[in-house]
Amino acid sequence: MILVLFGKPGAGKGTQAPLLAESLGVPTLATGDVLRAAVRGGTKLGLEAKACMERGELVPDSVILGIVAEELKQPQYAKGVILDGAVRTVPQAEGLANMLKGLGRKVDAVLAFDIDNDEIVQRLSDRTVCEKCQTPYRGRKVGDVCEKCGGALVRRKDDDPDAIRTRLTAYEQQTAPVLDWYKTHGDTVVVVDAVGSVEDVKRRALGALGK
Ligand code: AP5
Repeated sequence: MILVLFGKPGAGKGTQAPLLAESLGVPTLATGDVLRAAVRGGTKLGLEAKACMERGELVPDSVILGIVAEELKQPQYAKGVILDGAVRTVPQAEGLANMLKGLGRKVDAVLAFDIDNDEIVQRLSDRTVCEKCQTPYRGRKVGDVCEKCGGALVRRKDDDPDAIRTRLTAYEQQTAPVLDWYKTHGDTVVVVDAVGSVEDVKRRALGALGK
């Protein structure tokens, strides 16, 4: 299965991705995580992406499509993939569709998390993430220990108020039109209410996917 997770920054894509991966038996690919690892590693990709990411702007389409193309060659994605935040512009949706067509595959479903901006601002203002495995937490302090890997929790630079505003604007202007692109191209788009407990959102998502 090739599943695209779609939604505003802070909608819960990164929280739900590993839960859905466990239930659906396919691995996740989060472009934000790949980019942050590149920034930490000081690679060419990381240097290219760092400033955009810290300002809350989108990284160029060519960079994202390059990452996705490289990653999808890896054998762990042979059975499928849950793409977390990997499609945020119409050119990215088109590029991914062409790439998959070349592999004899297609997007099976787009799962869109629905949530309003006030809830997003509250979530992101209260988020810490593990510096090692990137697991997001809410209501935990910087320096607390990650339950999954023992790494230290940190704040993301793009979770400051200015960057949150920029990310929401980027979503409205560049990302929201992607849903219409998928609908007009006949792809399956399912929308789930992203407010409620993490477990409830997961149950709704699996139900919407018929699982
Ligand atoms: P990325 O890391 O993908 O950031 P994002 O899309 O802004 O999404 P977030 O990680 O902020 O939020 P999320 O939806 O995963 O929510 P989370 O589960 O953490 O990308 C970062 C940057 O990389 C981009 O800004 C861009 O620069 C670049 N980039 C990446 N992909 C790109 C692309 N395709 N094109 C161009 N540029 C790209 O949840 C948020 C908080 O809420 C957490 O604290 C969590 O614990 C909490 N929470 C989750 N679910 C619930 C719930 N049900 N109830 C209460 N709290 C909850």
